[in-house]
Formats: sequence, structure tokens, C-alpha cells
Amino acid sequence: MPFVTLREVLAEAKRGHYAVGAFNTNNMEIVQAIVEAAEEERSPVILQASQGALKYAGIEYITAMVKAAASTVSVPVVLHLDHGTSFEQTMLCLKHGFTSVMFDGSKYPLEENIALTRKVVEVAHAMGASVEGELGKIGGTEDDISVDERDALFTDPAEAEQFVAETQVDALAVAIGTAHGPYKGEPVLDFERLADINSRIETPIVLHGASGVPDASIRKAIETGVQKINIDTELRQAFTRAVQKVVTERPQEYDPRKILGPAKEAMKEVIKTKMRLFGCSGKA
Ligand code: G3H
Ligand code: 13P
Ligand code: ZN
Repeated sequence: MPFVTLREVLAEAKRGHYAVGAFNTNNMEIVQAIVEAAEEERSPVILQASQGALKYAGIEYITAMVKAAASTVSVPVVLHLDHGTSFEQTMLCLKHGFTSVMFDGSKYPLEENIALTRKVVEVAHAMGASVEGELGKIGGTEDDISVDERDALFTDPAEAEQFVAETQVDALAVAIGTAHGPYKGEPVLDFERLADINSRIETPIVLHGASGVPDASIRKAIETGVQKINIDTELRQAFTRAVQKVVTERPQEYDPRKILGPAKEAMKEVIKTKMRLFGCSGKA
């Protein structure tokens, strides 16, 4: 199936009260794992490439691999830029056929974030693509900050209302207690803040750093108003554990396919489990 936009799949998700999984990809096995899992689960799916992915694989490879994978399945596939940091890069992704880009202006003051995001939205919309913006700061689990410092970085609901009205983004990433990478303890999500943001905007809401968030919190986040959920770390962990298992159990193995094949299958299982949890299974 040809690529679809983020706007389309998230509008369906909002209507159906479920969330669509957005999985980070860096190589062929990850692309195949995500797309095959989506086809088997009959789920819409978002494949996203980060700064690191574009640097590692190159935009040409990422685009060609995801296009090839999407052409083999009948479920809706979105190709999305994750945490875009410059106007030029978001434009390059659109030129290569991405149907959605995130512009992450969260490091800028509000007015500057709005102005930069708005500029990306104007061009992306003119090209028929979608845009995700970010408000508040979603850090890394390695950031050594206190609870008070962390709360100060959370998304302000009134600012969220202003941000979506002035930028016209198609999705908004919020900071409500999740972080990128493996958690040291159990993450505590600010559902009251999420409910407040959700009551003020119609725009679909995105949860980053969802690896390691307990299932009950994911369900509650969806009920409270999240429609896109980002998963990367749990795929990396499944991949690496499977590779370690093969090389430990069969140290003589020298065929990369016999090492990467099980890694792909392990990622597929994680993705399918997440799709069932997010409620997007059976929705395509
Ligand atoms: O947003 C964070 C994602 O896990 C991507 O991380 O830049 O190392 O690919 P990365
Ligand atoms: P995790 O690696 O914590 O799952 O976060 C993924 C993410 O938010 C990508 O933007
Ligand atoms: Zn993220």
C-alpha cells in the first residue's frame, strides 16, 4: 500500500479510542520486523527514523527500504521523521517522500518553537504531509534530574493550546513523565496534566519514551487521550538479546542471516504485543 499521512491514521485512532505504534528503524531487519508485524496484526503502523538512523543508514536507504516494505503489505504505513531538528532536514525528508515529519523545537523558548514549527507546517501541508511538534522537554532516562526539575520541564496545558492553535500541527508530543531509554525505576505519568491538555486541544497527542512504561499506564494514557506511542529501546533490547543468545549458544555460527533472523523475529514479537496493547491490532 502507498504511504499514508500521520494525520489520517491518527484521526482514525482518535475516533476509535486507540493509539498507533510508532517504531524506530535503523536497518533492513527492523523495517521488515515492523512491517511484517503490522501486516500480521492488521494494524496501521508508523515507521520513524531518528537523527541517528539517518546518519547510520542514510536517508536514501531508509526511504528505499521502507518504500519496498510498504509495497509488500496492505496495511497503512506512515514514514515519519523522529525528532527533526532543522528546517532543511525536514524539507529533505519531505523531498525523499516522508509523509510525516516531527519538528522538535522543544529546546527553544515558546515563541521561537512556534515560529519554527509553523514554518515547517506551512511547507509540509502544502506538500500533503503531516507535522508533529513538541512542547515541554522529554529527556533521557540518563538525565540526572530531581522530581521538581523534571516537573518544570513538563508541558504546560495553556501553552499546548496556544501552540497547536498557532502552529496547526497534526500531532503534539507532550512531556508528562516519560523519558527516552531504559528506566531505572518505574516511570510515574502525570495523567491529570494529560487530561487537561486533552480537554483543551483536538490535535492527537504523542507519547515518547514509551519503552518500559507499565501496560496499565499505557492503557490509562490511551484512555486519557494519547493516539501515537513511540517505541525504540524495547526493540533494541529484543534485537540485542536475540543476537547474544545465538552467539553464546552457537559461538561457531558465522552466517549473519542465522544471527539477524532470530533478532528480527524477537523484535516482531515485541511489536505485535505492543500493537495489541495499543489497540491498533485489527484496525487496518
Ligand atoms: O528519540 C530517541 C530514539 O530512541 C532515537 O534514538 O537518535 O539514538 O536513534 P537515536
Ligand atoms: P524509547 O526508546 O524510550 O522507547 O523512546 C522512543 C522515542 O520516543 C522515539 O522518539
Ligand atoms: Zn522521542
